[in-house]
Amino acid sequence: MSDYPPCRLAVLVSGSGTNLQVIIDKIEAGELNAEIVCVISNKRDAYGLERAGRHGIPAIVHENCSFPDRRSYDAATVEILRSHKVELVILAGFMRILTDVMVNAFPHAIMNIHPALLPAFPGLHAQQQALDYGVRFTGCTVHFVDCGTDTGPIILQSVVPVEQDDTEESLSDRIRSAEHQTFVQAIKLSVDRKISVAGRTVLISP
Ligand code: GAR
Repeated sequence: MSDYPPCRLAVLVSGSGTNLQVIIDKIEAGELNAEIVCVISNKRDAYGLERAGRHGIPAIVHENCSFPDRRSYDAATVEILRSHKVELVILAGFMRILTDVMVNAFPHAIMNIHPALLPAFPGLHAQQQALDYGVRFTGCTVHFVDCGTDTGPIILQSVVPVEQDDTEESLSDRIRSAEHQTFVQAIKLSVDRKISVAGRTVLISP
């Protein structure tokens, strides 16, 4: 049992939402002291929206086409998040770079999962970048979000081996299994208030 009320999460997705599903399942199993108060997607057809709906979670389509630039889109996102009294923002396959408008509205309260061991292979197609480079190990990183591309303070990482016959798909599948564990662990540390940040270093209390 936690001493704190459930942390109010927003999960932002652009695609299939398998990470979202694991977070939902852990909350429903009582293993994560949190509540998902909304799922937001910049893609109308993101399967993550359907997953949210199935669990009675408000699913919000928030497309960028009607906004003149990234900052005004982010300002509208902040409004949605504030109206839902969100405490922690989870980027679970949300394929947009955030501006200072979002980052400054939620300092050290936006977490992203990236399918590589940062600072190696930031940006798009991280798994293919790892294959092209020929690394023996890659993995996933959960980090706080700043205004750079996958540059924020690192919370947790997991290592995943690269096999000789891996394709982008097989490697992505192996990394995604690691993501499902690592992301929930990181979110749990945050909702249990075990994380503090000193400069670039994330400190985890025992
Ligand atoms: C995950 O592999 C995540 O690391 C990646 O998108 C996938 C989403 O999967 N995110 C990024 O590449 C962000 N730079 P999911 O929709 O099944 O959770």
